[in-house]
Amino acid sequence: MMNTINMTQSFKKSASHGESYHRESSLPHGLFITFEGIEGSGKTTQIQMLEEVLKKKGIPYITTREPGGTKIAEAIRHILLNPDLKEMRPETELLLYCASRAQHTAELILPALAEGKIVLCDRYFDSTYAYQGAARDLDEELINVLTKFSTYGRNPDLTFLLDLPVEIGLARIKNRNLDRLEQETISFHEKVREQYLSIARKYHSRYIVLKGESQPEEIHRQILASLHTYIGEQND
Ligand code: TMP
Repeated sequence: MMNTINMTQSFKKSASHGESYHRESSLPHGLFITFEGIEGSGKTTQIQMLEEVLKKKGIPYITTREPGGTKIAEAIRHILLNPDLKEMRPETELLLYCASRAQHTAELILPALAEGKIVLCDRYFDSTYAYQGAARDLDEELINVLTKFSTYGRNPDLTFLLDLPVEIGLARIKNRNLDRLEQETISFHEKVREQYLSIARKYHSRYIVLKGESQPEEIHRQILASLHTYIGEQND
């Protein structure tokens, strides 16, 4: 049974949209895994399935989400997703997502990584590039600056993109009480999807793109296969 993360991995990846860095270390530094995708892509299900495996193996981890994850960030989430706040400016929206991220990263993510834990995060800064950058058409250079500021320069080590057609994703959530973002138009969500695919192509060393229409068990199997160097085989 393997109950520690493989700490001697060499990470070579793209850093916050623009720079790159290389880290090779035998010090504990955790593993920062993010899950991205349009509404109804099945991220939450996959995170729960992965959590079960980590729990069984005794691998230290935390699960968290954006916007949210801490008391202050969850309070900001409440404002961001409130369907009654339709007058919210795109600029306000961007700043609130970044405010939530700064608090969440400093208070929860960085300390967990410093303790050598795996961090499973439902959305992170790629959501900002997809939703506020592409769909709200806000300036990418500005998002670069705000991203660096609100993440303290820490990037995910690995990102799973669950990709699927917008109609399928939206059909899966149609019986929920839709939040402010979920109520956006099909063309808004198409822009989000396209931007995710473009980010995944650009930052391919960090990204693993999975077919969101596949059976949850099949997606889970692929996720475990991509993580086997860190967490061992499923039945170890
Ligand atoms: P979710 O937790 O249900 O996925 O809801 C979060 C919503 O917030 C979702 O519609 C995506 C959106 N979002 C952004 O627009 N920008 C961001 O930076 C993040 C993290 C989420």
